[in-house]
Amino acid sequence: MAKRIYNFSAGPAVLPVPVLDEAREALLSLGESGIGILEHSHRGPEFLAVYEDAVDRCRRVALIPDGYDVLFLQGGASLQFAMVPMNFLAPKATADYLVTGAWSQKAVEEAELYGHVHVAASSADANFSYIPREIDCTEHPAYVHFTSNNTIFGTQFSSEPEILRNSFLVCDASSDIFSRTIDVRKYGIIYAGAQKNLGPAGLTLVIIRRDLVESGNYNLPTMLQYRTHADNQSMFNTPPTFAIYVLGLVLKWIVVEGGLEAIERRNREKAAKLYAFLDESRIFKGTARPDSRSQMNVTFVTGDAALDKQFLAAAEREGLSGLKGHRSVGGMRASIYNAFPPEGVDALVDLMRRFEAEHV
Ligand SMILES: Cc1ncc(COP(=O)(O)O)c(C=O)c1O
Repeated sequence: MAKRIYNFSAGPAVLPVPVLDEAREALLSLGESGIGILEHSHRGPEFLAVYEDAVDRCRRVALIPDGYDVLFLQGGASLQFAMVPMNFLAPKATADYLVTGAWSQKAVEEAELYGHVHVAASSADANFSYIPREIDCTEHPAYVHFTSNNTIFGTQFSSEPEILRNSFLVCDASSDIFSRTIDVRKYGIIYAGAQKNLGPAGLTLVIIRRDLVESGNYNLPTMLQYRTHADNQSMFNTPPTFAIYVLGLVLKWIVVEGGLEAIERRNREKAAKLYAFLDESRIFKGTARPDSRSQMNVTFVTGDAALDKQFLAAAEREGLSGLKGHRSVGGMRASIYNAFPPEGVDALVDLMRRFEAEHV
């Protein structure tokens, strides 16, 4: 087998090796069944056990209260940009959106197809390099939507925005789900594409308060109503069985690692090493405002596009892959999700140090 290298990709992203090992075994036979995980019917007892384990582990890892449903959907976080307003934004109503990057802007564009959007906060004035502190919500918003971690711009909310009790929070947590402890009771809906912290692409985790499921719009295609999936154990149609299986393994790995508290601690340590180096570097500079820095996506530049290119080439040569910044912003981005090993962060800092010594 080819040697595994350090994969800093923003998503799909690195997965824990024990998860990949177990999944490899299950490709040929899930347990003693003699049938591989890709080949099992989603209605059979073997897959039902996989599904129940995955839901149960989600609940235990994130302490999800009973009044919430855990759904495994398809269509990515991008379909949630539309499903949320389709279900909860009536044509004359207004939803409040905190715009902190390209993904929240896309969410706004989808919501505008269904109702009114009020931008309650935005950091567009400084190229999304910070998390706004002032939030100006409307009096009765249908909901308040925010993106907890901005994958492209490398910023992250350090805690949930405060909103009035007459509304509910909707969070796109695609790039920091289960990277730290979370108080699910503060949210109406949390959604996340799985392909960064949870498993393979093609699966979207939705954690949704049950009263909201019940209150959603009925005048929608069946597949676009949350109740359809809540009432059918996410199996109204054929679910992404393999992705659900791997998500279950990733959650099992999180428990073995010590749960979200331990994962959070390790994520903080990894990010702190990189930011400490960026703060003292003479050629590399972090792009996010220090009080808004992401623990998941560390974005930085040299300020010289040609030098960035040289650095990226040097990184590739040393087996540090996926460090190119998003095409819309350039520079570099180190995505260091849960499964990214601390040794990979050390290797990056070491390379940056050597590169700096050669280029100042
Ligand atoms: C914060 C955030 N939201 C939404 C998306 C879009 O996710 P998907 O490709 O699952 O639709 C991404 C993808 O990177 C993301 O980082």
